[in-house]
Amino acid sequence: MPLGPTDALIINPQTGEKSHDVKAPAQKSLHVAVIMDGNGRWAKAKNQIRTMGHKAGVDALKRTITAAVDLGVTHMTVFAFSTENWRRPEAEVNDLMGLLRAFIKSDLERLRREGVCVRIVGQEEGLPADIVGMVNEAHEKTKDNSRFYLQVALNYGAQADIIEAVKRIATEVRAGDLNPDDITPETFGGYLSTHDLPPLDLLIRTSGEHRLSNFLLWEAAYAEFVFQDILWPDYGYEPLKAALDIFARRDRRFGAVEAGHVKPAF
Ligand code: IPE
Ligand code: IPE
Ligand code: MG
Repeated sequence: MPLGPTDALIINPQTGEKSHDVKAPAQKSLHVAVIMDGNGRWAKAKNQIRTMGHKAGVDALKRTITAAVDLGVTHMTVFAFSTENWRRPEAEVNDLMGLLRAFIKSDLERLRREGVCVRIVGQEEGLPADIVGMVNEAHEKTKDNSRFYLQVALNYGAQADIIEAVKRIATEVRAGDLNPDDITPETFGGYLSTHDLPPLDLLIRTSGEHRLSNFLLWEAAYAEFVFQDILWPDYGYEPLKAALDIFARRDRRFGAVEAGHVKPAF
């Protein structure tokens, strides 16, 4: 059965006629993406080095994963390191990679036991070889879990992901395996690294910044956006609940007049 959300199917008991309840769609999945921003400013406000902000950011991520499971989120994509973050000082990049290593070592086994499926999206090229090995192992060890999906965007950039998809499509067309007329938004989405997850429902960015910074450009086509002023290291249950409450009050129309019509497949 697909993980994507579907409209509620109403069957008239007298006539047997089938129709879709556009007012109360059955939400089977809830996919939330988070741009975890503000670690550096959090540390600065405390007169600490930026690395301390990243360290506190890892604790916030652990709290938020637990909160997300409790609050009914089924899929969560977190932006851990962007293709543009290589522009940071080498020492900060090394510290971020070190924190990721430590997180996998200390928490992978617990996440596996708790039923979390861990997936990584982004480019392997450029990452330290041991990190590539560790994230592949994290996926391998948790791939049969289905209680909660944690997708970590690591060395990820949406433009690079879209270019990769275009290159693969062009190669298939050139080989005669794909007819250009068959390229649709649905099939294109299938070439992106995020294709295994259901459509994105809500995108959260912390720290008061109002931009996408090259995150999920395609996938966010019909996502709701919630920007929160809180710095990422202070995130957890309450701020996530507040974001989900705002999301619940939004009227998602997907281009139609009434809410609840079929969602796009990307
Ligand atoms: C987000 O916090 C963490 C990463 C980008 C890895 P920042 O490090 O961007 O924190 P600010 O934006 O400088 O406060
Ligand atoms: C986006 O945050 C990337 C991550 C959260 C990993 P940045 O802090 O790098 O984004 P900009 O530079 O402010 O756009
Ligand atoms: Mg930032």
